[in-house]
Amino acid sequence: MVEFSEQRLGSLVSILRRRGIILPAFEIHGGAKGFYDFGPVGGRLHRRVIQHWVSHWLKNGNIVELSCPTVTPFQVLEASGHVGEFSDSMTTCNSCEEASRADLILEDFHPNPDALSMEELQDLLERSQPACPSCGQSDWSSVELQNLMFNTAIGSGKSAKAGFLRPETAQGMFTSFPSIYRHFRERLPFGALQVGKGYRNEIAPRQGMIRLREFNMAELEYFIDPEAPLSEEIDGWSEPVNLIADGKGEESLTFSAALKQGMIRHTTVADFMSKTMTFLVEVGIDANLIRFRQHEADEMAHYARDCWDAEVYGSYGWVECVGIAHRGCYDLEAHENATGQRLRAWRGFSEPRIEQVDGWTIDGAVAGPVFRGDAGSIKIALEKLPADVSFPLEVAIDERMVKVSQEHVKRVQRTESIAGEWYIPHVIEPAFGIDRIIWHILDHAFNDTGKDGEEYSMLRFKAAVAPVDYCVLPLFEKDGMGELALKIHQRLCAEANVVSILDGSGSIGRRYARADEIGVPICITVDHQSVEDGTVTLRQRDDGSQTRINISDLTS
Ligand code: GLY
Repeated sequence: MVEFSEQRLGSLVSILRRRGIILPAFEIHGGAKGFYDFGPVGGRLHRRVIQHWVSHWLKNGNIVELSCPTVTPFQVLEASGHVGEFSDSMTTCNSCEEASRADLILEDFHPNPDALSMEELQDLLERSQPACPSCGQSDWSSVELQNLMFNTAIGSGKSAKAGFLRPETAQGMFTSFPSIYRHFRERLPFGALQVGKGYRNEIAPRQGMIRLREFNMAELEYFIDPEAPLSEEIDGWSEPVNLIADGKGEESLTFSAALKQGMIRHTTVADFMSKTMTFLVEVGIDANLIRFRQHEADEMAHYARDCWDAEVYGSYGWVECVGIAHRGCYDLEAHENATGQRLRAWRGFSEPRIEQVDGWTIDGAVAGPVFRGDAGSIKIALEKLPADVSFPLEVAIDERMVKVSQEHVKRVQRTESIAGEWYIPHVIEPAFGIDRIIWHILDHAFNDTGKDGEEYSMLRFKAAVAPVDYCVLPLFEKDGMGELALKIHQRLCAEANVVSILDGSGSIGRRYARADEIGVPICITVDHQSVEDGTVTLRQRDDGSQTRINISDLTS
């Protein structure tokens, strides 16, 4: 088991910078808090983790990939509730004026300050007087709510419209519901996933890659019929996992058992938790350092009915890396209400339902010339009335009351066969914080001790996400070895999805060490014998073992 320590964290951060994996952004201009670059090696790691994530979910067979804009009009995020609700609690140090998140500075004084109300946070702040993380003083302003979205203007001058950088990729998938519904021939369940940037103007991003202002999100919105029968089958991880439900202690259970006990409240949520576990382990997170924690009612996002976080343990303690939320019909209903567009699916009944209709409708021949443009709205209002109303009466049309008399209406009495109904689908959403996952891949892959206990750094990436597959090393660059190494390197680079680097500088031991530092699984050494008989040495990163093979066999 890895021993996480400040010293180990310091060594890891220094390698990540030195070897071009993760570096603070804009450093030559003094840097900017909460922004990071994936460097020449990290860029590929980031791409591979994302590719693996997309393939993992596309295996489901009923999921498509979308790419929606990151700049989002005000009304979209107003409808989704983010304008009103997407806030964190903030307090400012009266001594150095640095803002802090109130719940975070109170973590040592309460088991879950995120679940406290503003009044409770204020009270706890006054009672516990935490030190300012920036200057060490304990003199705080009142706790207030701070919206986390970055504002922007869409367009210029007087015609500019308010907008935001998106705080989640999800909203684009809800507003695209009609086209996804058509794509799937109007049959649920189906999903849409999206990978891309999300933006949150974090109050005080202090923990390296854990709290970023611009970050990589990977989200799946899975649309289901809430009345469709659910299969009991859960795919993926079948071993027990540590689960914390309802703010109680940890229990080790399989996802199936937790579902049967009612601890996990929905089969699809349990299935996605299981698939999430499989994904995290496949990309290199240690299974023993993962747990799932259910949100307490006060902690849940404004759209969620149930939510489980996959938390991963590492140098920063337990960190939420994935949220699996049952969003119910919240989002589609909110956008439907705001736009008047139908964001529904059709549910056919197994047998048509026979219904007696007894009510009223407009008599077009008489009422049309009287009500003109209002006739359509009046018809809709009349058809909602019960049979036992009497006329004249007034109906509300666009905030006006319109008088309707007996001669404008006709009684409707008929038997109808109803084949189905429109309903608002429910959504289960697994949302992954890709940067936090990459951080923990690095944190768990980092090995800082050599065979004989000496200091030796290595990143033991899983092959599926290793940023570089091969490092080709000419023993010397003379006598044809340099040219042969270059040819092998170029041939590997031409293979689909293979990354090779060529390193001819320094002693061979030093070059192996450099390759190990960036986690290259296999080094290929070209020596004198290679030039004579067309063989090379393959050296495995994890155990240093070496085998000789023909160059022609390399790609197999
Ligand atoms: N869409 C989930 C989140 O924003 O965290």
